[in-house]
Amino acid sequence: MESQHHHPLWTRTLHACNGALLIGMASSGLQIYNANPVFGGRAGEPIPSLFTLGGWLAGGRWWHFGLMGVFAFVLGSWLLLLMQWRRQRLGRGGDLETLSASANAKKRNYAIHKILYTLMLVVLSLALLTGLAMYKPATLWWLSGWFGSWQQLRVLHFATVPVMGVLVLGHVLLSLKLGGLRLLRTISW
Ligand code: HEM
Ligand code: HEM
Repeated sequence: MESQHHHPLWTRTLHACNGALLIGMASSGLQIYNANPVFGGRAGEPIPSLFTLGGWLAGGRWWHFGLMGVFAFVLGSWLLLLMQWRRQRLGRGGDLETLSASANAKKRNYAIHKILYTLMLVVLSLALLTGLAMYKPATLWWLSGWFGSWQQLRVLHFATVPVMGVLVLGHVLLSLKLGGLRLLRTISW
């Protein structure tokens, strides 16, 4: 049978690892959140246990801080490799022009698609930077300083979860619209 793979093995592997690690990072982060909710403190609304990992604060921290090195490594190497070998597949200024100027619906959809998945990489980098700023605030004081107060830093780090939720949903739906299950196959196995 003819091979349907258009994506190199490294990007397929890192795509899958990033997705799996993200589930672990988000759910263990939400477990940490429950110990002292960003919104409302200890009197605030907790996240349902279905979406959390670790069982209690120490368990959530164990997972979150245990996975963070692997997550940073996977995201960092993926970004470097994409920029080195697949820069043309990432969103750029020209895609914004296509969005506003092109009359071709297919081209516009493809431009949104590229912008959307590139934006996800930006949001994940923000999760990593704000996470590091909270993990080592004394050593990385200059990084923590970029994001304002501790509460602003927490809100920003937390916000990456719902923002990624919306972006992933959009990315999946748009991928299905553009290439259906055949496209899904080219990135998964
Ligand atoms: C290397 C990457 C990361 C590091 C170093 C990191 C570090 C941290 C730290 C130190 C906290 C505790 C904050 C506190 O004391 O209040 C935290 C909480 C949290 N993290 Fe991460 N994190 C990383 C990536 C992520 C990712 C990718 C997500 C999901 C998109 C995520 C979601 C959360 C959530 C929801 C919380 C709870 C927010 C809070 O209560 O402050 N983290 N993270
Ligand atoms: C979890 C967060 C995710 C991120 C950060 C992400 C990011 C990306 C990126 C950067 C690409 C381009 C890769 C390249 O061309 O080398 C891509 C492609 C793709 N992703 Fe995701 N993705 C995520 C989740 C998903 C999920 C859950 C699905 C579907 C179940 C999916 C389906 C696809 C498909 C079908 C492509 C191929 C698109 C094309 O070639 O035009 N992704 N993704």
